[in-house]
Amino acid sequence: VPSFDLSVTPLPLSTRYYCSCGILGPGPKEETLADLLIKAQLASPFFVVSNPRVGELYGEAVRNSLDSRGLPYFYVEVPDGERYKSLYWARRLIEHMIHAGLHRGSTVIALGGGVISDLAGLAAATYMRGIPHACIATTLLAQVDASIGGKVAVDHRQAKNIMGTFHHPRLIISDPEVTRTLEPRQWSSGFAEIIKSAAIASTSLFETLEEHSLHYYQENYASLEEIVFKVARIKSSIVMEDPFEKGVRAHLNFGHTLGHALESATSYRRFLHGEAVAIGMRGAIMIAWELGFGNAAMASRMDRLLSSYCLPLSIRRVDDEKVMAALRLDKKRGLHQARFVLLRDLGEPFVTDEVPESLIRQVLKRLR
Ligand SMILES: NC(=O)c1ccc[n+]([C@@H]2O[C@H](COP(=O)([O-])OP(=O)(O)OC[C@H]3O[C@@H](n4cnc5c(N)ncnc54)[C@H](O)[C@@H]3O)[C@@H](O)[C@H]2O)c1
Ligand SMILES: [Zn+2]
Repeated sequence: VPSFDLSVTPLPLSTRYYCSCGILGPGPKEETLADLLIKAQLASPFFVVSNPRVGELYGEAVRNSLDSRGLPYFYVEVPDGERYKSLYWARRLIEHMIHAGLHRGSTVIALGGGVISDLAGLAAATYMRGIPHACIATTLLAQVDASIGGKVAVDHRQAKNIMGTFHHPRLIISDPEVTRTLEPRQWSSGFAEIIKSAAIASTSLFETLEEHSLHYYQENYASLEEIVFKVARIKSSIVMEDPFEKGVRAHLNFGHTLGHALESATSYRRFLHGEAVAIGMRGAIMIAWELGFGNAAMASRMDRLLSSYCLPLSIRRVDDEKVMAALRLDKKRGLHQARFVLLRDLGEPFVTDEVPESLIRQVLKRLR
């Protein structure tokens, strides 16, 4: 199975990332899920956390694999949805872990998308001051983004990801074929993060994406596997360079300043994360242009790319004042102003706190 290691000094342990079609499928395989867990020296009992939707689709594959090697495990589900990524549900998980008698050697396995990996990851990070965990990432977004980098968190009703810490999984397993069962909008949302990584770090990947479209990858899982692997590596190398987001890791927030503000201004109901990021990337390119960076070709290439991955380009019916208020509250903002990641060109991101409010307002109007 193709893999690479992500190790973050000063942490003594590293994360192994595996990406291969079919790991969760029914067919024969070189290495099974259980083999990979054993190879990573992760100890049982395993504590598998999923939700009813993912559990119904892939829970059995995971349980069968563990059973086949006689590995003991507990299996629990939390309800499906961002609103269950809460302190309440983290505590419920921890209560289960206590009753199961999990000890420092046990391993939590998050089976699901970013909601499950953030929630189960936070439970693993805090239980007995931290026990190992692994992620079986089942959404495109989790395979290329949420499972990687060690950020784990839960939300408060008034603030997303407000309670969290860094706790790197020891193992990440991505089977791109499981994205077959994702809703179409979830696919696009994952591609927004893929496009983001290409825009900040790989012009050649950006060009590859331009040659194809969402439709192509939905039918060519071998090509999707290559893309997922590449993007996972991009994020990993940025994280390795800057594990605690003191410098270059901030580049991963390209499109996110405006994106988060749009999500928050619409109470997280209107846009999927990647959809808001898509609009945010367009906005950031417009802002850069007005400040004298970038070029007209970059803007039109981004627009074309977002369209061919079925991502939205505009925002109708969004209250600009709410967006501006959310920008002021953004936890990643600079001292006085919102902090933006802009592009000098494809592959050349930089961070700035110097975007005037008047320009942001102007761009919001143009995004309509
Ligand atoms: N920790 C990080 O670095 C990081 C980075 C990005 C996002 N996140 C977090 O990730 C979350 C979003 O993650 P997400 O987009 O994966 O959403 P999600 O976990 O809510 O999954 C989206 C939906 O798809 C379903 N699903 C998952 N896998 C499926 C499959 N294979 N087939 C069919 N349905 C499936 C889920 O049950 C859910 O209904 C947010 O909470 C965000 O804050 C974290
Ligand atoms: Zn994101």
